[in-house]
Amino acid sequence: MPQAKIIDGKAIADSVREEIARRAAALLKATGKRPGLAVVLVGEDPASQVYVRNKDRAAEACGFHSVKHTLATETGEEDVLDLVEKLNNDPDIHGILVQLPLPPHIDESKVLRLIRPEKDVDGFHPINVGLLTAGERDSALVPCTPAGSLVLLKRTLGEPLAGLSAVVVGRSNIVGKPMASLLLQESCTVTIAHSRTKDLADVVRSADITVAAVGRPEMIKGSWIKPGATVIDVGINRIPAPERGEGKTRLVGDVAFDEAVEVAGAITPVPGGVGPMTIAMLMVNTLTAARRLLGLPEEDALF
Ligand code: GUN
Repeated sequence: MPQAKIIDGKAIADSVREEIARRAAALLKATGKRPGLAVVLVGEDPASQVYVRNKDRAAEACGFHSVKHTLATETGEEDVLDLVEKLNNDPDIHGILVQLPLPPHIDESKVLRLIRPEKDVDGFHPINVGLLTAGERDSALVPCTPAGSLVLLKRTLGEPLAGLSAVVVGRSNIVGKPMASLLLQESCTVTIAHSRTKDLADVVRSADITVAAVGRPEMIKGSWIKPGATVIDVGINRIPAPERGEGKTRLVGDVAFDEAVEVAGAITPVPGGVGPMTIAMLMVNTLTAARRLLGLPEEDALF
């Protein structure tokens, strides 16, 4: 059996970001305006600090106006809500992203619901969730990780995806559910599987497309994959790697890559697969939000 094609998420993310930088430059020339992104970080979670720094850098590299608000862990809920309200009313800001998780004394849902849906570049506001599930993807802002996964699928399989069977393993609001909505809108036959699914191996084995988003290291085995299937691994799990030395760790996905690569037709690696797409799609959403708020027509969709 030939080895699967390895889907180069980094290269595809770079091409998306280059296109967004071109479009942002054209917007600046035509209107004198830059897409504006505000990222809010509350607390000092090290992983969140890295994500926020990367988002800020990517926005600057695309020629966006980028603002980072870093608040102390003990900041009160009212102060976070006040900041969101200020950003809602700031005409230079078109996209607002509040990095999750928030400290436990802050009601995440309350903060996310206060973000103006038109500026909700994470796509987490109930209005955007509703538009996506109602099949009105083109007026919504779509969560970045599933949107990026769809770009990888389309660039790998070509269009259309209609009629293919797809299994999404994982039912989170951030990935699993919106991914299923997107695939349904592409006319795939979609199954959402999860930790309580019976005969999960057989369910996965029936699928032309498997999207793994369970957050359990290497849970999906190579023997579960349908030969020739396309596998998108959203998982990013850090596990001990004693073979690299004491206390060392490495990143693995939710799919047992070394096994699956022998069976699949195409597969994303971890790292270097879905990960880089998430930030690229945040840039796409910020430009989309900016154009809508400025009353400009939609450009060709990138996914
Ligand atoms: N924390 C982990 N992933 C995400 C994401 O996609 N958006 C936000 N805002 N926070 C996150």
